[in-house]
Amino acid sequence: MPSEPSSVVEQYFPIEGATEAAPFAPAMGPDDSVMLRAEDLRKEYRSGSQPLVLFDELNLTVRRGEMVAIVGESGSGKSTLLHLMAALDRPTAGDVYCASTWLGKLTAAQAAAFRNREIGYVWQLHYLLPEFTALENAAMPLLARDEPRSTAFAKAREMLREVGLEARTHHLAGELSGGEQQRVSLARALVTQPRLLLADEPTGNLDNRTAEAVFGLLERLHTMHRLTSILVTHNMEIAAHCGRTLRLHEGRLHEVRLQAGRSEDTSRQMATASSETPGHPIVRTSFPGGNTAGTA
Ligand SMILES: Nc1ncnc2c1ncn2[C@@H]1O[C@H](COP(=O)(O)OP(=O)(O)OP(=O)(O)O)[C@@H](O)[C@H]1O
Ligand SMILES: [Mg+2]
Repeated sequence: MPSEPSSVVEQYFPIEGATEAAPFAPAMGPDDSVMLRAEDLRKEYRSGSQPLVLFDELNLTVRRGEMVAIVGESGSGKSTLLHLMAALDRPTAGDVYCASTWLGKLTAAQAAAFRNREIGYVWQLHYLLPEFTALENAAMPLLARDEPRSTAFAKAREMLREVGLEARTHHLAGELSGGEQQRVSLARALVTQPRLLLADEPTGNLDNRTAEAVFGLLERLHTMHRLTSILVTHNMEIAAHCGRTLRLHEGRLHEVRLQAGRSEDTSRQMATASSETPGHPIVRTSFPGGNTAGTA
């Protein structure tokens, strides 16, 4: 795993100096339709004698309003890539421009403020604080930026309603089911009304049915809140429902065409990644259990 935040609060907390204006990204200025651009990214880790190069010269452009899935083998660097997009980590080389901000120019304090303002992040391990209620967890990014408690809790309550968890508002996070925890994690990610949602396996560790429900919710929130969403998933059926799917393989992102199986067997992930032809239309599919498939 890339260096996970020691505390999610720290990642949101606009620490001293965060009020300095974050550098505008001149390269993205003229083209307002772009939400995120990664240019010639290289990331290497040095833990043994040999450097581990995860990717090199990786390029990616995501337009506003897109929902993009990133798939790839375990260890291919998906979480690392998401961390770079959120300024949670720095690339070895290359640049990331996100929401008109040049991430490479941010100080640590500016990066914290940038995340709090622009990014909704769903961690691979959801990092809820188990001894706090669903409401407190959902309100946490607002409390971290000193929003008055009354408005922070009102917004968090509304987000919990949107994710269908009104009835669990005062449950401790540690008392919730996996699917419920994932929904609180979505509420927390969106309570600040970010423009970009980065979700790292938001349906990992959930059974098929719950995964489908959480993804359905994510799709609705994506549309309702006019988000740009990038989600990492191992679930190819879910990837097939995103507007674009990219596979991270041997350090490069490849556009993939997904074709869901038509079997009614819900226990297996039936979708298969086929050709890596750039720009090939995505085949839209039904979820497992459905029996329709058609081309977009
Ligand atoms: N801080 C670190 N130091 C050294 N190596 C690291 C570090 N963080 C991650 N790695 C290595 O980088 C590789 C990519 O890790 P990453 O967590 O990005 O993979 P992933 O594609 O998200 O995998 P998964 O699907 O299992 O979550 C792994 O082989 C991991 O061991
Ligand atoms: Mg990962």
